[in-house]
Amino acid sequence: MYNLLKGKRGIIFGALDENSIAWKTAERVHEEGGVFVLTNAPAAMRLGNISDLALKTGAQVIPADATSVTDLEKLIEQAMDILGGKIDFVLHSIGMSVNVRKGNHYTNQNYDFTQKGWNVSAVSFHKVLQVLYKKDAMNEWGSIVALSYMAAQRVFPDYNDMADNKAFLESVARSFGYFFGRDKKVRVNTISQSPTATKAGQGVKGFNGFIAFADKMAPLGNASALDCANYTVSMFSDLTKMVTLQNLLHDGGFSNVGVSQEVMEMFE
Ligand SMILES: NC(=O)c1ccc[n+]([C@@H]2O[C@H](COP(=O)([O-])OP(=O)(O)OC[C@H]3O[C@@H](n4cnc5c(N)ncnc54)[C@H](O)[C@@H]3O)[C@@H](O)[C@H]2O)c1
Repeated sequence: MYNLLKGKRGIIFGALDENSIAWKTAERVHEEGGVFVLTNAPAAMRLGNISDLALKTGAQVIPADATSVTDLEKLIEQAMDILGGKIDFVLHSIGMSVNVRKGNHYTNQNYDFTQKGWNVSAVSFHKVLQVLYKKDAMNEWGSIVALSYMAAQRVFPDYNDMADNKAFLESVARSFGYFFGRDKKVRVNTISQSPTATKAGQGVKGFNGFIAFADKMAPLGNASALDCANYTVSMFSDLTKMVTLQNLLHDGGFSNVGVSQEVMEMFE
């Protein structure tokens, strides 16, 4: 390990179980010397095993619903108290679509569900940024990352309303990232990750086909959760100081391939 995050303090949202991208990120950040608080929705505390991760990484867990500004305000205040100063890195690793969960087709949405999923998956990122900004809680040259997926740019029929949520999320990263960069010298980016076998990922209809196809298309194959954690560590480090307002494709090259030879062979 390289001590890339030595002396840095952070907040990691969204570690539910050992498959979560946020879980792997917390483990890697810990190995690189960063300290952090872990947070998740109060309901997730009962579902997952975040306390195991907390024990392993010496982190405290603060429950917070990322759609609640009040919860976020308390979380950020407490995080600064516990960690002993302002924040250097934040991972937003949150996604949920009620339409996906209930099996509603994209052409037959329940708009209460649409709004709930949008609030959790996308607006929550604006809320996190706004609370951090207003509280002046970030150190200069800090780094904020949210996780996205390529359905924000291209059609993946079963990704459903999460495609729209991701497009919104990426736009928030750019729009808020402008003000965070100009006013506070903080960078804001999204990482657009390969399909990954996690609770949220596997909730998407046809996920097994989806992940296998991407793996055959990408010259490097799919990026794993651990690969994503490593990339995120680099984005939290001082080595990527001048990268901001970007949607960073972390997909083994998938996004720039028209068709791969392996996929072609299936049709010949
Ligand atoms: N798995 C994939 O294929 C894939 C690909 C690209 C991007 N992503 C994105 O990565 C991120 C992490 O997902 P994951 O795949 O690790 O799955 P995951 O299910 O492990 O993580 C999703 C997390 O969101 C949390 N969450 C839901 N509602 C919340 C709320 N109201 N407040 C706070 N937290 C809440 C859940 O408790 C959970 O910990 C998501 O943004 C997801 O869309 C996933």
